[in-house]
Amino acid sequence: MYSETPSFPHNLKQVGLYLHIPFCKNLCPFCPYNRIEYDENLFSQYEEAVNAEIELYTPYLKDCEFVSLYIGGGTPTVNLPGLLRIIEHLKRNFSLSCDICIELHPGNMDSECLGELKDSGVSMLSIGIESTSDRILKNIGRNHDGETAINSLRRAIKTGFDSVNADLMFALPGQNLKDWENDLKALVSEGVDQISTYPLFSFPYSDLGQSLKIRQVKRPESHLIRSMLNLTDSFLTGSGYKRCAVWSWLKPSKKKFSSITRHHYVGFGPSAASMTGKDFYVNTFDVASYAETLPNKRPIALSMPVNQRLEMAYWLYWRVYELKIYQKDFQNLFGEEHTIESTFSKIIKPFELAGMIDKNNGGYQVTDSGAYWIHRLQNEYSLNYINRLWGSCRRESWPSGVSL
Ligand SMILES: C[S@@+](CC[C@H](N)C(=O)[O-])C[C@H]1O[C@@H](n2cnc3c(N)ncnc32)[C@H](O)[C@@H]1O
Ligand code: SF4
Repeated sequence: MYSETPSFPHNLKQVGLYLHIPFCKNLCPFCPYNRIEYDENLFSQYEEAVNAEIELYTPYLKDCEFVSLYIGGGTPTVNLPGLLRIIEHLKRNFSLSCDICIELHPGNMDSECLGELKDSGVSMLSIGIESTSDRILKNIGRNHDGETAINSLRRAIKTGFDSVNADLMFALPGQNLKDWENDLKALVSEGVDQISTYPLFSFPYSDLGQSLKIRQVKRPESHLIRSMLNLTDSFLTGSGYKRCAVWSWLKPSKKKFSSITRHHYVGFGPSAASMTGKDFYVNTFDVASYAETLPNKRPIALSMPVNQRLEMAYWLYWRVYELKIYQKDFQNLFGEEHTIESTFSKIIKPFELAGMIDKNNGGYQVTDSGAYWIHRLQNEYSLNYINRLWGSCRRESWPSGVSL
């Protein structure tokens, strides 16, 4: 990727918006995301800059249909009045009749906060429960206990959003299969709409990675991931949930919470990425550098031109993650003359023969056995790519380039 600023997006039909709020009350050592400890002054600078960034894009996105607004972090509610003001600013600049989805931390979501989020139009939540065991939460350095996590989930469900997702992490230090089953049982008994489960990845640049002195992304042993995932799938399907992505299970009547379903998206805030179909780019990670650059210049650190072939591959990557590959979606995006089979002939047939995907009417479905292996393949690539990109953006505000 290069340090050039690409042109503004144009002619986008459907677009997702992403807002990154990079502040947290406490920094978890395992966390690879771009986040810093909350500071009131820096938040004010951030707020002013993010509003300016939104305004820069307004003329270029005025004819778009917005498919969702996703707010992630960090801990977006760490300064609730500030967050609500930014949501209002987004609404003033773009006609948003889409879902507004937000990531929440159990320690920053009291009933008042949930009520205000609902009033501001937020429709879907994802809560970082991570574990319900005090011992394990302590082992991974979270600043809340299991009871706080479960109570936050209860409050969220009671407030009445369209969908509530809970994130759990597995293959954690000191966690056995019984602990994991207890976590799943606890969430199911609360009636959560969706459960997303992530094995602990350690990134070299994270605090955990630095304390372990690792040079490459470290993932838990494959057999541990497989046995925990098998337990997850059998328990959650037995409890009425359906697998909706490699790591997620959803109640059939509910809407899926996902950060990655949008094909084209525009991101605001430090480290936010954008994919316009012509370019993929990321903003600078450093909050002060981000704030200094705006409103005069766009705060883009690295970018990469995207040709149609790459855009198609990107589309396939995320559809495989979501286990469904629809012909119609592909043709709507790229034109009737393109089919999945002709575009990906070297991939689709071998995967079908190996039983990893099944042809069905309308496209392909990733099979149960395919889900693990295909995703593992993707992971080896994407974790290393994220590690290189995020690692260098964390080291320098304006890297001269990075090879992926
Ligand atoms: C941006 S974070 C969560 C939002 C919120 N700040 C919180 O911590 O509750 C999104 C999710 O990524 C997952 N996650 C974070 N670090 C991870 C890691 N090193 N390996 C695997 N999953 C991780 C966690 O499940 C976390 O809830
Ligand atoms: S896991 Fe969540 S709370 Fe912890 S540092 Fe990362 S973004 Fe912040």
